[in-house]
Amino acid sequence: MPNLAITDAQAAFFRANGYLILRGFLHSEEFSRLRQGVDNLTEYGKLGVHADPDFLYGTGDKTGKRVLRRIEYVVDKSDACKVLLGHPYILRSVERLIGKDFIPTWDSLVAKLPAEGVEVPWHRDASHFHVGDAPIFTVAFYLDRADQDTCLWVLPGSHQWKQSDVDQIVARPVFSTDGATPLLMDPGDVAFHHVLLLHGSRANHTPKTRRVLYYEFRPARVEAELGPHTPEYIPLKQRVLVNCIARRRAAPYVSRDEVPYDYDPPAPWTLTGVDVPLDSLRIPHETYWRSSESPEK
Ligand code: NI
Repeated sequence: MPNLAITDAQAAFFRANGYLILRGFLHSEEFSRLRQGVDNLTEYGKLGVHADPDFLYGTGDKTGKRVLRRIEYVVDKSDACKVLLGHPYILRSVERLIGKDFIPTWDSLVAKLPAEGVEVPWHRDASHFHVGDAPIFTVAFYLDRADQDTCLWVLPGSHQWKQSDVDQIVARPVFSTDGATPLLMDPGDVAFHHVLLLHGSRANHTPKTRRVLYYEFRPARVEAELGPHTPEYIPLKQRVLVNCIARRRAAPYVSRDEVPYDYDPPAPWTLTGVDVPLDSLRIPHETYWRSSESPEK
């Protein structure tokens, strides 16, 4: 009998360290579909600097050119990304860590491109003001290898640090990996990381590419209380998730033996209107943003 979700020991490791790695997670057919979808998006993004606000660019540290660094709303842009969002092992694991009322929030592709992939300084992905008592986290699906040159570095346990300790790390003038753990990953590996875990990566001066799909999940109860989105966002994202679970059931490359995730959030988050089709699976953060700050991460 295969495991249907992460084990208690894996959940405990995640709670203590703020991250968790699952090796060899994506099977070949699903991986190659995702890789093809991501290749298409990356190639389009590299063609030029697009006016499309979902394609985000940084400044290359060698030539000063604009370099693709992120693509938002990949679930809307790629069928393989939709099927992936319905992955039952991931969703059961999310439920185990967050509770049954979780919703998907961000779905992004982060690209560290060759030679000029820009440095990402130490940071947290959220402010502690929005987190409440739940382990909000990102599930990172690796499309490329991440080695010492291209990987993400994390400070284990830093999701529990007090703000003054975080500020000390963020204020360091040079990107230093002192005390940090490299997330060395192969294509098809998955990492969970807590939104308060300090992480960053060096500029990429090698010919290697590292692309990762990031799917973030949050509890509806925390979202409703603290944001960052307005409460109207919650049922829309529930519908996105229901849609993706249905697509996974219908996907010809998913094993018929897979037990689909039964998304059944408790009251007051009970699903309503989920049979009404959505015009789009792109639910813009800024439309449902409750503060005046930009939703960009
Ligand atoms: Ni980040």
